[in-house]
Amino acid sequence: MTRGLRLVASEHAFGPIARWREPDVTPADITDLDQHAAYAQWVEDAGFDALFYTDFLGFDPVKQLNPRLPFDPMTLTAALIGRTEHLGFITTASTTFGAPFHLARSLASLDRLSGGRVAWNVVTSFTGERNFGLDGLPAPGQRYARAQEFLDVVDALWASYPQSAVVDDKAGGRYVDVSQVRSIDHVGEYFSVSGPLDKPGPAQRPVLVQAGSSPAGIAFAARNADVVFVAVPDLEQALDYAGRLRAEVAAAGRAPDSLLVMPGFRAFLGRDDAEARRARSRHVTPDVLEKARRVVLRESDHFQLTDLELDVPIPASHLPTDADLDASVGRRSRAQIYLRWAREPGATLRHVLERIALEHGHFALTATPDAVADELERWFVAGAADGFMVGYGSGIAQFVDEVMPLLAERGLWKPPTDHDLRGRLGLPERG
Ligand SMILES: Cc1cc2nc3c(=O)[nH]c(=O)nc-3n(C[C@H](O)[C@H](O)[C@H](O)COP(=O)(O)O)c2cc1C
Repeated sequence: MTRGLRLVASEHAFGPIARWREPDVTPADITDLDQHAAYAQWVEDAGFDALFYTDFLGFDPVKQLNPRLPFDPMTLTAALIGRTEHLGFITTASTTFGAPFHLARSLASLDRLSGGRVAWNVVTSFTGERNFGLDGLPAPGQRYARAQEFLDVVDALWASYPQSAVVDDKAGGRYVDVSQVRSIDHVGEYFSVSGPLDKPGPAQRPVLVQAGSSPAGIAFAARNADVVFVAVPDLEQALDYAGRLRAEVAAAGRAPDSLLVMPGFRAFLGRDDAEARRARSRHVTPDVLEKARRVVLRESDHFQLTDLELDVPIPASHLPTDADLDASVGRRSRAQIYLRWAREPGATLRHVLERIALEHGHFALTATPDAVADELERWFVAGAADGFMVGYGSGIAQFVDEVMPLLAERGLWKPPTDHDLRGRLGLPERG
């Protein structure tokens, strides 16, 4: 247990976006850079390894009734690396849309500007196709094939202009030894890129995060990722996921501990169970349930929940079948979790919508800090998690104040001391 449990904070977990309905928060706060910097500094001081920004490349009229991150995550990361000292930033970029040359430049720039603090969450996207000239989303297999080629091109571009090429030969009039900067001449199924990159590459490969859940996604993560995020609501599913992933990691010829599994997690905390339940139920307002009815359609349009009564079980005719989900081109993993919840004996629509709204398919606990620490320890020791990506719950500040000290007391976690994100996460060097 040399590495210890690692912790990443999610973007909305505190600060004005999470607290937007409270009377002291104004819309101007949501877009105020100082507020975002204050949150990042708070996350850094709390001892998280990194702050994570998602990205979805399309306006969602239901989800965006709540404030979302009001900036492109890479642009915000560029602004915040100058306002923090050691915190890592995990920023999302799609391989389905956009070009590897652009992304290789931006990420190399962020890596060098931050001293190795920026990670790339590689996503294949399940929305946004109409913003990029496509009528439909490519099938999952195609998205992952393109993702692999995208990544291979980015790696080759990063290597094409190594930092050692900068020789600063003043007498000879050469800042760069151009013989070290090589074309990549890539011609593949999805991309033709001659290279080389016109900016120096990163000192070492930035940390790659991925969240593949399908067989193709797991294979991609096992081959490429340093960290996987995953939505798994209970230990059994987490162990099943981690087992399948680790088998693929071994099959890809990598050491099993060269990849960290970090499930999403959120806690609703109280001094006793009743107080924790009250903390949770404060977040269940009628409009939250109504949004969940519509948001779930994003996962599968076979969830027909809009006209149903809240306090009755959901008829099977209003739910997708397994075959419906298998045939879907979008994200299946979350829909499968919601379907499982809906099929639990006695589950009412209210119960399912509450879970969708508050847990989003992630591991969630409504409990005392001690019970939460027990459960996180259980997942860690069982090999289901190397750490957690911590979301809002009843307030991440409470998690920081009440749970993190318990994890430290038990010797499970200690604040990171490294500057670069690879070091903070205890990951081996790559590339
Ligand atoms: C914690 C977490 C964060 C994610 N963030 C994003 C994101 O920012 N953008 C995105 O398009 N997909 C995101 N995803 C979806 C994954 O990239 C992936 O598509 C999903 O887990 C389904 O896996 P599959 O693609 O193998 O079916 C996220 C998933 C998880 C679990």
